[in-house]
Amino acid sequence: MGKKSDTGENDAVFARRMSRHHDELRWLYMELYDNGAMFAELCDQMKRWYDGRKETLKRLDAKREKEETWYRRRDMLGMMMYIDNFAGTIKGVQEKLPYLEKCNVSYIHLMPFLDSPRGRSDGGYAVADFRRVKPELGTMEDLAALSEQCHKKGISLCMDFVMNHTSEDHEWAVKARQGDGEYRGRYFFYDDPSVPQEFEKTVPQVFPATAPGNFTFLPEQGSYVMTTFYPYQWDLNYRNPRVFNEMMYNFLYLANQGIDIIRIDAVPYIWKEPGTNCRNLPQVHTIVRMMRMIGEIVCPGVVLLGEVVMEPDKVAPYFGTVEKPECHMLYNVTTMATTWHTVATEDVRLLRKQMDTVCALPREYTFLNYLRCHDDIGWGLDYGALRAWGMQETPHKKYLNDYFQGKTEGSVSCGELYNEDKETGDARFCATTASMCGIERAGFEHDRQKMELAISKDIMLHAYMFTQSGIPMLYSGDEIGQVNDYTYREDPEKAADSRYIHRGRFDWALTDRIRSRDSVQGRLFNALSGLEKIRRREAVFSADAEVHTKDYSDLSILWIVRRAEGEELHAVFNFSSRVKKIWMPETAVYTDLLAEKTKEVTTVDLPAWGFMWMKRKK
Ligand code: GLC
Repeated sequence: MGKKSDTGENDAVFARRMSRHHDELRWLYMELYDNGAMFAELCDQMKRWYDGRKETLKRLDAKREKEETWYRRRDMLGMMMYIDNFAGTIKGVQEKLPYLEKCNVSYIHLMPFLDSPRGRSDGGYAVADFRRVKPELGTMEDLAALSEQCHKKGISLCMDFVMNHTSEDHEWAVKARQGDGEYRGRYFFYDDPSVPQEFEKTVPQVFPATAPGNFTFLPEQGSYVMTTFYPYQWDLNYRNPRVFNEMMYNFLYLANQGIDIIRIDAVPYIWKEPGTNCRNLPQVHTIVRMMRMIGEIVCPGVVLLGEVVMEPDKVAPYFGTVEKPECHMLYNVTTMATTWHTVATEDVRLLRKQMDTVCALPREYTFLNYLRCHDDIGWGLDYGALRAWGMQETPHKKYLNDYFQGKTEGSVSCGELYNEDKETGDARFCATTASMCGIERAGFEHDRQKMELAISKDIMLHAYMFTQSGIPMLYSGDEIGQVNDYTYREDPEKAADSRYIHRGRFDWALTDRIRSRDSVQGRLFNALSGLEKIRRREAVFSADAEVHTKDYSDLSILWIVRRAEGEELHAVFNFSSRVKKIWMPETAVYTDLLAEKTKEVTTVDLPAWGFMWMKRKK
């Protein structure tokens, strides 16, 4: 009896959600594919995935539908990690949840863990089977169990959905290689080199040094296959509705394992058109919008995080509009790169300009803020603005790369170039936060003073990240100042890809030192923990706060004001190695959130690479 009425209720919920989106979804689908039968199949399958969704997840969906902004709460703090580096297996991650709780983490991004061929995996971004976990990491059951445990603790799980391409070992690719036309049609196959040559004229290269070109020749087939990234990552052809439908079923399958946040990997690349740069084409937005609606119908508790590593005017459109949203969250990539530019130049003008651009966007737009992630830092800065201040693109990139490699006088950073393009002189950069801040070098040189500065810089940069609107995302190991790992050079499967320098094994021995307040690890861990708690507690950090930057007569001082609920935060950051005397806007009573002292303040001496969070009533 109970079961029957549950089914009835569930059907009604599905029907309600479907009726809300059906017309727009159908319209967009037909516009792209003009195929009613495939659309009908998609709708039937959506119901099937909905029916197969666990009751606990359905309850969570209902709760999150009511509290639409659940993922923007100021207690959201993310951490991204490789399962094997952090805890060996998925079960291991589950055992380590108490540590993550100690880190105040409420959102875990598990780096790619689906089946992927060894040595041809691009860190897991070449998926051979979307429904199978890499056997050495565990099983889908382990994942579902981890999600259940996380949900009990109020922690959300995020995973990558690598939808632009599959591994060449994926069942479809294997069949396509055997010449099966149905499967060849799921990729971009050309027997004649003329089309690939046409594409090459307008499509830039993602990995110019490690994987040049956008096509790979398959000698046994005598044909070319499109491979924008590595030759073993075959681009999927989303002109084919079978590809779209099947990939949506994979998305829903993963959502049903209890994943809360789906990171849509490399999303700008998913539509290809000869004569264009094959990035950010309008059809990409149609697909993301459809994906958003499909999610809202089947699993509205799931949030889409778009990976759009592009210039600012290309990023914001992936939020869609308030009426027709696409991604819930996007990476704040330009702010991240600009932050490091500011570290190297000790000049905050560009960072301020960047913050002003972000602050002018609607507050519904949620950014994911970060200092470092698993990828390199591409120097995607606003060169138009920099030119006006006398900095030219090519020499400036060289300056930044030299600086962070530690070649510039006064630089304390250590790291390596990535995908250096010998022809254009272009290069990106890889290292951990701690190494870029000088912790590695100071440790090596046993230089206490340098270490003090490096720790201050590292903490200040985290505080700056926490001050931005959106969700802060830590990179596992940064909370204990883990430095570069050079062992990748000895591993033939990794040696060519310097991103592995910051993908080292998590050093659990370092966590023993957290308790010692004098150790580097203790200093960092406890400082970050303190900041996270303040952020959680204080209304001025809420997503809806009004935020702006403030003019200050010193090029190295970045001043951010946040206002909410009758309070005002003055967050001031010293991006320089000199002590700075800061004049408050007026003599008034402030609460120093770090020192927990309330008193009248006129001036503050900010130490080198120091910062302050001063709150007042308004
Ligand atoms: C994304 C990932 C990157 C990967 C690429 C190809 O940009 O972050 O690590 O190489 O997609 O899947």
